[in-house]
Amino acid sequence: MRRASGPHLARLLGDWPSAGPPGPAYGRLAAALRLLVLDGRLPLATRLPGEREMAAALGVSRTTVTAAYAALRDSGHAASRQGSGTWTTVPDIEEPTGGPGAWSPSPRSRALDLAHASPAAPPALRAAYETAAQALPAHLPGHGYEPVGLPELRATVADRYTARGLPTTPDQVLVTNGAQQGVSLLLTLLCDPGDRVLVDHPTYPNALDAIARRGARPVPVPLDEAGWDVEALTAAVRQTAPRVAYLIPDFHNPTGLLMPPPVRAELTRTLTVGRTVAIVDETLVELALDPGGVAPTPFAAYGEGNRVVTVGSASKSFWGGLRVGWVRADRDTVRRLAAIRASLDAGTPVLEQLAVAALLGVADDVLAERRGELADRCDLLTALLRDRLPGWRARRPDGGLVLWCDLGSPRSSALVGAAGSHGLRLAAGPRFGVDGAFERRLRLPYSLRPETLTDAVERLRAAWAAVSGGEDEVRGGPGGDAFVA
Ligand SMILES: Cc1ncc(COP(=O)(O)O)c(C=O)c1O
Repeated sequence: MRRASGPHLARLLGDWPSAGPPGPAYGRLAAALRLLVLDGRLPLATRLPGEREMAAALGVSRTTVTAAYAALRDSGHAASRQGSGTWTTVPDIEEPTGGPGAWSPSPRSRALDLAHASPAAPPALRAAYETAAQALPAHLPGHGYEPVGLPELRATVADRYTARGLPTTPDQVLVTNGAQQGVSLLLTLLCDPGDRVLVDHPTYPNALDAIARRGARPVPVPLDEAGWDVEALTAAVRQTAPRVAYLIPDFHNPTGLLMPPPVRAELTRTLTVGRTVAIVDETLVELALDPGGVAPTPFAAYGEGNRVVTVGSASKSFWGGLRVGWVRADRDTVRRLAAIRASLDAGTPVLEQLAVAALLGVADDVLAERRGELADRCDLLTALLRDRLPGWRARRPDGGLVLWCDLGSPRSSALVGAAGSHGLRLAAGPRFGVDGAFERRLRLPYSLRPETLTDAVERLRAAWAAVSGGEDEVRGGPGGDAFVA
């Protein structure tokens, strides 16, 4: 079981005494801990510090901590056993009451899930599985272990990179179980515990988790609506000599930004000088908010191939349930990644690889439809928010699946806490940063069905009213539009 130390938790809790509900200190502490659990900053099954350690770290009495832990147990956010301490849990989310509306199907809870941004499978997936099933018999006489991936899928992925301006051969591709596995394998190969990893700030939370799990230290460089700040990135490379930079230049999660070509070129030069290897996460690269949009030229095409490794995925282009991703790197890196992977699993399922190869064969049509649908849904969510939550702001993303909303006040974690009782599951802004940043932000996916988005915004409005006390000032001035293109 993971363990949170007192000082670490004190840092995560920040200014909890002034942030919580009115009432005794133990109630405010319990509320602050609950929010950390709900919004994933304190992972489930993490052992909390002993009461004495926690009291010392926070500068409160042990009685306060004892009462706060008891309150967490009562609300289902902690459990304890004699001799094993207290650890984090989540209660079953109850079915919300009142109001008709669509529910996003979720195996474990009936809450409407806005914490994940993943579109449903396209209609073409069925046909792709049928094609895959027809191709499968040819593979059955073999053992079926494909630790580097099926040759036909590696070749198709390689061809796609070549067509995008990055000449690639099949042996430069390692098929993985999703982009997440690719990122984790690369961090294992490229970093040692204690190494620094440069990240955009905000960034994709599971990459931050993978960096933490490797024992590496993130070096966050702010990324705001103006885009990547090459000067700040260069200074960070010079000052901290990061071993690796984890970047999402294509429809960045969560900001939706696309890195312009001159920035790609300059950043490549900076990383080369700093001898920093870039892990470029292209999971969202096919999702320009423009039906005719073509995938941008790969970051890796701007410089030395072996200083840039690229991670791709079928999850957002097609479907997350396929669990197929890949790494594109030089041959030696692919070989070394395959060796590390052997201790984790023995390859990606053959049927899913065949299905992805079939989908890539019809990708242009499937993706054009997906991009058109996402653009419509982005417009819908923007219009709903403008109407129902006029104090919020969001820049129109260049692509991807989410709006990175500015709430106008630092209440993101509180909103996530309140949302549960409105049947919503949300990802709070601080999930996308380090050390509690982005409390004014909320990431909202527009990939859901239109009726679900409408329902979700009504629930959001109710949850926001509960945490903002109804004060929701309209920003942008008279005639101003809070949602700008
Ligand atoms: C930037 C980014 N990288 C990686 C992933 C994980 O992708 P996969 O499902 O292929 O593991 C996601 C999923 O949301 C993502 O947004």
